[in-house]
Amino acid sequence: MDAVLSYLKRNEGRFLARLREYLRFQSISAQSEHRADVRRCAAWLARHCREIGLETEMHATAGHPIVLARTPRRPGAKRPHYLVYGHYDVQPPEPFELWDSPPFEPAIRRGRIFARGATDNKGQHLAHLNAVEAYLKTGTDLLCDLTFLIEGEEEVGSANVGPFLRKHREALRCQAAVISDSGMPSLKQPALTYGLRGGIGMEIVLRGPARDLHSGTFGGAIDNPAMVLCQMLASLRDAKGRIRVPGFYEEVAPLSPSERRRLSGGSFSGRELQKLAGVPRLFGEAGYTPGEQCSARPTLEINGLTGGYQGEGGKTIIPAWARAKITCRLVPNQTPERIRSLVIRHLERICPRTVEMQITPRRGGSGPYLMSPESAEAQAALRALRASFGRAPVLIREGGSIPIVSQFKSILNMDTLLVGFGLPDDRAHSPNENLSLAAYRLGSRFCARLWPELAALGKRR
Ligand code: BES
Ligand code: MN
Repeated sequence: MDAVLSYLKRNEGRFLARLREYLRFQSISAQSEHRADVRRCAAWLARHCREIGLETEMHATAGHPIVLARTPRRPGAKRPHYLVYGHYDVQPPEPFELWDSPPFEPAIRRGRIFARGATDNKGQHLAHLNAVEAYLKTGTDLLCDLTFLIEGEEEVGSANVGPFLRKHREALRCQAAVISDSGMPSLKQPALTYGLRGGIGMEIVLRGPARDLHSGTFGGAIDNPAMVLCQMLASLRDAKGRIRVPGFYEEVAPLSPSERRRLSGGSFSGRELQKLAGVPRLFGEAGYTPGEQCSARPTLEINGLTGGYQGEGGKTIIPAWARAKITCRLVPNQTPERIRSLVIRHLERICPRTVEMQITPRRGGSGPYLMSPESAEAQAALRALRASFGRAPVLIREGGSIPIVSQFKSILNMDTLLVGFGLPDDRAHSPNENLSLAAYRLGSRFCARLWPELAALGKRR
């Protein structure tokens, strides 16, 4: 282990240069104009994996490629096998004008590296690759077999990874998956994430008049699609934050007192949350703490809303159409299929006959995830966290989603250890996304310490 840790220390400068190189690719999976950039990014990653000594393949999918990279196997040796998952795609960088430096020109300020994808997720899985490089280049036995699966469609729902897992079920069979794509409360509070929310999404278009109409000539007898859409969407949530879709809460598992105690250990205070979000006041479902509201309760959000005239000055029209994108976050034991159909059925029921509605469900959708932090693997990860950060780790549930995690369980029957190095102000998905350089360094050390801890479990089994 000493040789590995000292390799990590000696090569910090190179690891940073490499991250900068990786962050320059505009691997924006949602935007088809960046298709070639996504591909180039995957090719760079595959070459990098080969250079550090991994047996690497790039697999085409119906969407963006999957990079699969294995540590060299020892013939005959039966060793524990773990899957490390990450995603090289990133969220769209807009709005550009709010970035202090361009999103694909990595810049270092105040001990952080700023770029789209820095924390979500290039820096985090690169930390794993750096640790494995340290093992391979120092000739230190990893004691485990590792397979890296790094994909390019996480930020658009991972729809093509499920079929890939089914197809390669045998080769991917593992003890567990490991993902660093979440956060920790602070550098002094490393965390194991034992739950994630799931999600579904859809787009709604309402069409009224055949064209934009004069609102003086027609206003009164002709319904307004933008108004109707607002009324429909507004009725989906009450003033206290309860979702008003019939059946929405039916399968939600109640939070046990012990779970609530555990959750209170890791989550932000209301005041911190208010400051981070920059809101005048918090909001939320009565009877739950802000930490619970953001991780263990389901939600329905409008992500975008448009229609009619938004240009300079005014325009007196009844718009021909209005459109919205909405998503739900799901918690145990809600399922994406059921919640999707409940929301669609309800919208169809409340839509008036004065407009035509078209709903396009987003492909995929993901189930919620919850694991026991008491499992042997979780305890091994907690030991590695304590050793590498020098602080006692906390247990957290996160409100975000990693779509593939519930499929690791359902298709490959394995749990996922979620240990992320993001910090509360890393601004994932926002302008000025960044990764703390200390988190990148400490993260790599954690990645190095994890494998011997996990390998030792195999001996006990
Ligand atoms: N890294 C996030 C997931 C995450 C966010 C975990 C916050 C823990 C805390 C991931 O890249 C992500 O953003 N996922 C999307 C999935 C969606 C686009 C299907 C999400 O949660 O919105
Ligand atoms: Mn993300």
